[in-house]
Amino acid sequence: MQALNSGSHCWIGRGLLAVCALIPSAVYPHDPITTKLTWTQEISRVVYKRCAGCHRPGGSAFSLLTYEEARPWAKAIRDQVRGRTMPPWGAVKGIGEFTNDRSLSEPEIDMLVTWVEGGAPEGEAAFLPPAPAAERPAPRRKFAWEIAVSSAWKPAAAQKLEAIRLKSLRPGSSLEAWVVRGNGDIERLLWIQQLHPLDQREFVFRSPVTVRPGDVVRVTGPVTFAYGTQITYAR
Ligand code: HEC
Repeated sequence: MQALNSGSHCWIGRGLLAVCALIPSAVYPHDPITTKLTWTQEISRVVYKRCAGCHRPGGSAFSLLTYEEARPWAKAIRDQVRGRTMPPWGAVKGIGEFTNDRSLSEPEIDMLVTWVEGGAPEGEAAFLPPAPAAERPAPRRKFAWEIAVSSAWKPAAAQKLEAIRLKSLRPGSSLEAWVVRGNGDIERLLWIQQLHPLDQREFVFRSPVTVRPGDVVRVTGPVTFAYGTQITYAR
């Protein structure tokens, strides 16, 4: 019988009939392929775009650039992206929109999970896109002014808040930030649930949040808000 790889368990039953139960095998070439998604067509493109900035030779984490490197991590990749631990980001989706959001979209997560559960096939080499060039370090943003807030802030003049930065929030801790408008409306700005050590600590609002006298900005831990003209320069 062909199924006698290291992942199969067989019992000899009545007569000479071997009864084999295939248990999930570490010998992945034997995983059945049940998906049309392949590394060379779809998956490498997501990984190059969302993971390779860190997961590359010389990067901050082990390389995931090639199929040979990524395939042994398939199950871990599925778990990490499904749990939104990777890519490290930190803000709960749906609260606030940020220009530096590097998390995966739902369709990207579905794609990676489906690929892994479908046996993580490689596909044809001809479809493989060129490997991404090493990323230049992200430009450092500098704002004209910052205000530190640790519980509540009542702005004395109208301000456009451009970004929120976590100050001394410990991994595992959570934080919320919101504005109570003069009319009682609540606008949630940021929700961090159990900060992971690799998570982002600066969140740049996609559209600046305008606060006015009469509003109260509330946070459950120390942050700074950046406002005023944003100056960006390359390192
Ligand atoms: C900002 C940098 C960064 C990005 C972007 C990133 N990672 Fe990671 N990742 C890390 C670091 C750092 C580690 C820990 C590395 C180590 O232990 O060597 C890690 C660990 C992992 C692990 C191992 C986790 C474990 O302990 O089992 C997996 C799997 C993983 N990343 C997958 C991904 C995938 C898939 C993506 C893209 C969708 C991604 N990562 C994006 C930095 C990043």
